[in-house]
Amino acid sequence: MDRPRLICVVGTRPDTIKTAPVIRELRKYSDLAETVVVATGQHREMLKQALEAFDLTADHDLEIMQHGQTLAQVTCRALEGLDRTFDELKPDYVIAQGDTTTTFVASLASFYRQVPFGHVEAGLRTDTVWNPFPEEFNRRTTGLIAKHHFAPTTWAAENLFREHHSKDSVFVTGNSGIDAVLAVAEKEKQTWFPEHPGRVILLTTHRRENWGEPQRRIAEAAKDLLAQTPDAILVVAMHRNPQVREVLNSVLGGQDRVHLIEPPDYAPFVKLMQRSYLILTDSGGVQEEAPAFAKPVLVLRDTTERPEGVHAGAAKLVGTDYDAIVREGRSLLDDADAFHGMAKAVSPYGDGRAAERIRYLVLKSFGLESPEVPMWG
Ligand code: UD1
Repeated sequence: MDRPRLICVVGTRPDTIKTAPVIRELRKYSDLAETVVVATGQHREMLKQALEAFDLTADHDLEIMQHGQTLAQVTCRALEGLDRTFDELKPDYVIAQGDTTTTFVASLASFYRQVPFGHVEAGLRTDTVWNPFPEEFNRRTTGLIAKHHFAPTTWAAENLFREHHSKDSVFVTGNSGIDAVLAVAEKEKQTWFPEHPGRVILLTTHRRENWGEPQRRIAEAAKDLLAQTPDAILVVAMHRNPQVREVLNSVLGGQDRVHLIEPPDYAPFVKLMQRSYLILTDSGGVQEEAPAFAKPVLVLRDTTERPEGVHAGAAKLVGTDYDAIVREGRSLLDDADAFHGMAKAVSPYGDGRAAERIRYLVLKSFGLESPEVPMWG
């Protein structure tokens, strides 16, 4: 066989950030296998930013994004585009990360063409397919199709075993998102700090299940927390989704000490997390990254598929109830013991070497030898 052709499919900001270390690692072994990057373009600006942070570009971009796109539209356009691309490129193996619609569609397109599929960040689960929506569905269905499940933690691997996936298809690699965040934190020492001597509270919220009233409650709670904390500023890294922006602008726009900023590039965002005192978020990736920098996180969701940070005491699930957010936020801002109890640098999600493990396993499945790293966890 000639060099196998591996296709890495990316589409949104988070799946790109977490696939980037795997792409870079595989490309170090380009004498053994060819690695092609295909972007669905589910995101436009945010995808480009994420690729650039790792000095990558898409070899093929399907450019499917439309403003106000529905889930069905993303699914149909990405499926048609990927099927055409797979027909042209004839991949021997397809890799995608996580739980976005791009990930699910990449696995489906591989299934229809009977191409082996490797799922990065496999095995995360909540107890209902409806939450997070539609991500829980995306990762469960992707798991049905995957030949290899690269689980970030033993907890995620156990979820897969409960679903009867075979022992030899599940590997605990750590989360490649930790590879990404550590690489970026290392690379750029200081790129963007708000000019403010006091504390920084960072807020990010974009999830579909929080659109509308929950997001309004989150914004109101953040506003009132800030009003009671005179030394602090609130930095809100706004997602590009117009539905999200409308609520954030209406509650927090024009407020004193509130900075509504465009979604920063990945490296400045990492610096912003490091500069923050407290992080309020409904993002999955931020939940994983913040503990690596000893930053307490209040998780603005009712369920989490990432319980490891909560178990380690570095994150707290507060949901979207106004009183709960204000109460937990106040406790961390006012009570030094409560703050230090949570501000511990723990990395339950990985050691920064997930991509090396995934590279080893993918190449090995083609009988190709490359340096091995002991499994994580
Ligand atoms: C998607 C993922 C979600 C992930 C999130 C991270 C799905 C179903 N959802 O949600 O899991 O946490 O990305 O950001 O896959 N937009 C732009 N420019 C961009 C990106 C988005 O203008 O670069 C706007 C567009 O109007 C677009 C809208 O945001 O229609 C929504 O994008 P979409 O990918 O459908 O959903 P996200 O909320 O970003």
